[in-house]
Amino acid sequence: MPGAVNGKTILLIVGGGIAAFKALELVRELGRAGARVLPVLTENGARFVTPLSLSALAGEKVRTSLWDLEDEAAMGHIQLSRAADLIVVCPATADLMARAAAGQANDLAATLLLATDTPVLMVPAMNVRMWQHSATRRNLATLRADGIAVMEPDDGAMACGEFGPGRLPEVPAIMAAIAAQFGEKPLAGRHALVTAGPTHEPIDPVRFIGNHSSGKQGFAIATELAAAGARVTLVAGPVHLPTPAGVTRIDVMTALQMQAACAAALPADIAVMVAAVADWRVDAAGHKLKKDSSGPPPLMLTENPDILAGLGHHAQRPALVVGFAAETGDLIAHASAKRLKKAADWIVANDVSDGVFGSDHTHVQLVTATGAEDWGPTPKQAVAARLAARIADHFSGQP
Ligand code: C5P
Repeated sequence: MPGAVNGKTILLIVGGGIAAFKALELVRELGRAGARVLPVLTENGARFVTPLSLSALAGEKVRTSLWDLEDEAAMGHIQLSRAADLIVVCPATADLMARAAAGQANDLAATLLLATDTPVLMVPAMNVRMWQHSATRRNLATLRADGIAVMEPDDGAMACGEFGPGRLPEVPAIMAAIAAQFGEKPLAGRHALVTAGPTHEPIDPVRFIGNHSSGKQGFAIATELAAAGARVTLVAGPVHLPTPAGVTRIDVMTALQMQAACAAALPADIAVMVAAVADWRVDAAGHKLKKDSSGPPPLMLTENPDILAGLGHHAQRPALVVGFAAETGDLIAHASAKRLKKAADWIVANDVSDGVFGSDHTHVQLVTATGAEDWGPTPKQAVAARLAARIADHFSGQP
């Protein structure tokens, strides 16, 4: 991946947040990978890192102000904004995101973002409440709709003592996101529909039937398809995972809602149905069921529609339909039968007898019309990358 940045010029805007110090490490890694880094430091950014350390690492002059006449003579801000192959904002603070979303031009960083037609990657870092605030959510949606790539922050303990999403992603993840910006986009122009996570089928207003699906595999696939250039609609059951960059996410609870969201997302070129959809729903009570002397209430179950089979047989069937099959024995036989029954092109089959749910690792076999391929034990992320590459191969050369 780092090869992708070799010889590239990256304009790095460092915003004013506690994570700004990590931008120094990013500059070093970009330099090692052969990129030229033109650093821009906001006024607040300069409170966290010094222009001197940034320029020493980048080997370039650090620009801080719109009103630096010497710079305007050498390279005006318009020119500067266009000199780069990519603009990276790291850390992207809530304030910088807000100003960029509003199209303000009240300092050098905001002006550069407004004046440019160069691709922009933002790497947010902020307090969890700021990240989750509806104003930031709005700004994030605006920025993404404007075509700006915005990474999801990491989850975890924050410098301010709180816990949750808002931490700057680790430098290798930022490097990978930067490299992906320069990668080919073999699925550009394709629309991919991905389902992920479990469904919850209500028993009454406070209880439900669910399953242990974490959504990790489906979210990883959505991430990889988006990185390959596809427009991705991710229909997600109830999971606690951040939305992958550049992906349109539709949150649902039940199988019927998931089916409706999938139908509404058509037409699509690719469907990857990863969700662990509940096979049955309950005739739910409208009120909370009470424990009383008449004993436990009977649960009346109704079969849910099979969303994958529905797409496989749909009048607007996506050109490539991929299903998943979690089995506890006779993996290939069951997966092959499912492939035919559900009219899927491929089935990614995995043996869940030894705790795949919730884990970051899995062991899958790809079952196609021509047989089964064992992909061995791998991280779910690697399965996602391999599947996306395989999908890209499938479409290569097709109009
Ligand atoms: O039959 P089984 O549940 O094992 O099939 C798994 C595959 O079918 C997965 O791709 C899953 O997303 C999909 N599926 C579905 N709708 C259902 C049940 C399963 O789309 N109601």
